[in-house]
Amino acid sequence: MSLIHIIYNWIDERIDLKTLQAKLLYEPMPGGSRYAYAFGSALLFIFIMQATTGILLMFYYAPTADHAWQSTQYILKELDYGWFLLSFHFWGSSVMVVMVVCHMLQVFIWGAYKNPREMVWLAGTILFLIVMAFGFTGYLLPWDQRAFWATTVGVEIMDKAPIVGDFMARFLRGGPTAGAQTLSRFFVIHVMLLPAALIAVFSLHLFFFRKAGPAGPFKATRQQLETKMEFFFPRQVFKDIVVMACVFVIIAGLATLWPVELLDEASPEPTDYNPEPEWYFLFLFQLLRLKMFSGEFGEFLGAIALPGLFVLLLMALPFINRNPERHPLKRPFAMSAVVFLLVGIAVLTWMAIASRSQ
Ligand code: HEM
Repeated sequence: MSLIHIIYNWIDERIDLKTLQAKLLYEPMPGGSRYAYAFGSALLFIFIMQATTGILLMFYYAPTADHAWQSTQYILKELDYGWFLLSFHFWGSSVMVVMVVCHMLQVFIWGAYKNPREMVWLAGTILFLIVMAFGFTGYLLPWDQRAFWATTVGVEIMDKAPIVGDFMARFLRGGPTAGAQTLSRFFVIHVMLLPAALIAVFSLHLFFFRKAGPAGPFKATRQQLETKMEFFFPRQVFKDIVVMACVFVIIAGLATLWPVELLDEASPEPTDYNPEPEWYFLFLFQLLRLKMFSGEFGEFLGAIALPGLFVLLLMALPFINRNPERHPLKRPFAMSAVVFLLVGIAVLTWMAIASRSQ
């Protein structure tokens, strides 16, 4: 018996590795494995990559208003492969947003949010908010003009929310205006609170998912599902690994081709700098430029009421839409609504980008 076997058996006797292995790898997958089911694992993979690169960055980054910009400059210009590390972390966040949208679209099109998977979806919507909050809080950390002014505008928008708005804005800023306290708070939220929340909510997400079991294909009959039954291992594991490898190559490619560029150090002095958020918040930014959302009430409608209503609708979706039909062609209203939403977001994003050159 080899040493590895001896160690394996020793651990197995104590924590029953064989049962754990069977539970993790031999989960039945009705209808068999698919690339479409790989988005969830790919998201988990990106989170692990973001946590790893984030920890490495923290060895060099100083989260104080008088050193944040200099330490980011040091990472980009002097630290060996620092530019790659920071650029990988930066592009990883964009790819995570794209992946979370792909995962949501997949489970939406497959009707996998319906009874009995309402709790899986609900935990998922909280994960979506956490992923967006990672993007928002991370944007300030380089402490350059782009970071400072985009965050100032973002927090001002939050301030407009009724009842909690003023508290939220003061809590995030740490005072009446953005400054050193804001950076400390965003840093703590970005590196402590959000990762802890993501790990906790993801554990619930997976627990609910394993309790309900995978939804499987939308068009198969129960009999077909039972006859074409595969386990998670080996075919789905293989597909998940292929997608993770592609995600890694894409993020590394983006980081190499378009490394992060730092603007001038943040300064609260008024400048002619035009603040702009990350690309995935651009549609909201553009929405607020529309005439119908100008004025105090219009701003409240566009910045708070509409996004708030969207999040509430997203959370309530499995409870509102109780039709058990899962085939997308037999759910024309749901499919049209999502196409309308995606086209709207794409058009607003394009308008925001087009207005840059004017
Ligand atoms: C960090 C974010 C997320 C991670 C890491 C994650 C991870 C996963 C994993 C590993 C699975 C199981 C395999 C699969 O079908 O992919 C899964 C399933 C699922 N997720 Fe997520 N998820 C995230 C966000 C979301 C969001 C935002 C939603 C929807 C709002 C969502 C809804 C679901 C649903 C309904 C299933 C069950 C799919 C089925 O039964 O076929 N997830 N998720």
